[in-house]
Amino acid sequence: MISLSDLRKFKAEGRKFSCLTCYDASMAKAMELAEIDTILIGDSLGMAIQGRDSTLPVTVEDMAYHTAAVRRGNAHALIMTDLPFMSYATVEDGLKSAKAVMQVGAQMVKIEGGAWLSDLIQVLTRNGIPVCVHLGLTPQSVHVFGGYKLQARTREAANQLIADCQAVVDAGAAVLLLECVPAQLGKEIAELFPNTPVIGIGAGHETDGQVLVVQDMLGLTFGKVARFVRNFMKEQAGETAIVDAIKAYHAAVQDQSFPAKEHTFQVEL
Ligand code: KIV
Repeated sequence: MISLSDLRKFKAEGRKFSCLTCYDASMAKAMELAEIDTILIGDSLGMAIQGRDSTLPVTVEDMAYHTAAVRRGNAHALIMTDLPFMSYATVEDGLKSAKAVMQVGAQMVKIEGGAWLSDLIQVLTRNGIPVCVHLGLTPQSVHVFGGYKLQARTREAANQLIADCQAVVDAGAAVLLLECVPAQLGKEIAELFPNTPVIGIGAGHETDGQVLVVQDMLGLTFGKVARFVRNFMKEQAGETAIVDAIKAYHAAVQDQSFPAKEHTFQVEL
């Protein structure tokens, strides 16, 4: 099983690592077979699984349920779980929420923010809970940003983000995750913190690892997708491969070509 030390080793060796979001055991098994290095049980499950329009309604119970399912399906990847909106507003709440997901299989928790998380990061780390800090575009603060937009567009804002990274690393953050920031800043931060693996999503190709929401890269997000998404399903099997398979099933049921003899139990009664 991949550990935090492996991520540090990958960084030292310049070996880039992969991360995908995952919410269930069968997809987790597919990721084990594909040797994905890291899995994020993201609170993006609010949109991808629950059909909501933001991550805000997701609860700690939801995160623990999906973390347990993913852990049962995958014995290879390092598993990191998001602490959802308002579940770490105080240090006590953060400890309680982190305990709930660590006890069902997470190896690390991810929290969104900056320097103001320092006390919580110290307490979690002291209690044996590695922390990934998500900076840049942090979806739990979508209403503060006024939408999902590129962050740190100026030198001044980039320097502020670097200062936040420094503060959380000083407090003990084990991993940084940067979302939707200029590629140059992704590279700078990965270089500035030689002992801290940096994962990017919309942060350029020079971070140490990359993450995507699995539905996005499989073409299962219908409607507008972010510029940083690449649809790998489209390249491998055709843009509508999954919908086409479901359509074919529907048609086969209607014309009775499914189930065929080999799918049925032929017993003389
Ligand atoms: O919840 C999530 O899926 C995330 C990724 C977008 C990084 O935080």
